[in-house]
Amino acid sequence: MSSPEKTLILVKPDGVRRGLVGEVISRVENKGYKVTNLRMLTADRALLTKHYEEHQGKPFFEPLLEFMSSGPIVAMIAEGEQVIQGFRKLAGATDPTQAEPGTIRGDLARDMGTKVIQNIVHGSDSKESAEREIKIYFN
Ligand code: RTP
Ligand code: MG
Repeated sequence: MSSPEKTLILVKPDGVRRGLVGEVISRVENKGYKVTNLRMLTADRALLTKHYEEHQGKPFFEPLLEFMSSGPIVAMIAEGEQVIQGFRKLAGATDPTQAEPGTIRGDLARDMGTKVIQNIVHGSDSKESAEREIKIYFN
């Protein structure tokens, strides 16, 4: 039997500051996914540069690093059939104004007028990203 699919989920500094760690974990668990690893950390520039390498050179890259290192984050591995796509659906669109109600971003985030979009959670977007990101946060 092949091992179940895994994804890397982060509760970003805005989510931690607002006390939404439990809410995010509940939504993941209520959907039926299993949280197998959990860790709180404050990410430094080196770690975030690795994580967000695809965004290097974009105008929001520096603000993104500043935001993501502005306080503690919670990293977790969730597993289950199609969890990568499934969690992206639970999270909703990147822009919280556009994210559908019922999603994490649609229900819990809004435009804060900041240089970079603050949207509570991160979720890996493919198997390759999930594998790469899990190694960055859980070695
Ligand atoms: P994530 O990687 O955090 O799960 O989010 P995502 O796939 O929905 O979005 P992505 O394009 O990978 O962007 C990563 C994070 O960078 C911030 N961002 N800000 N125009 C902007 O201000 C902008 N674009 C992206 C967001 O925090 C986004 O989640
Ligand atoms: Mg992304």
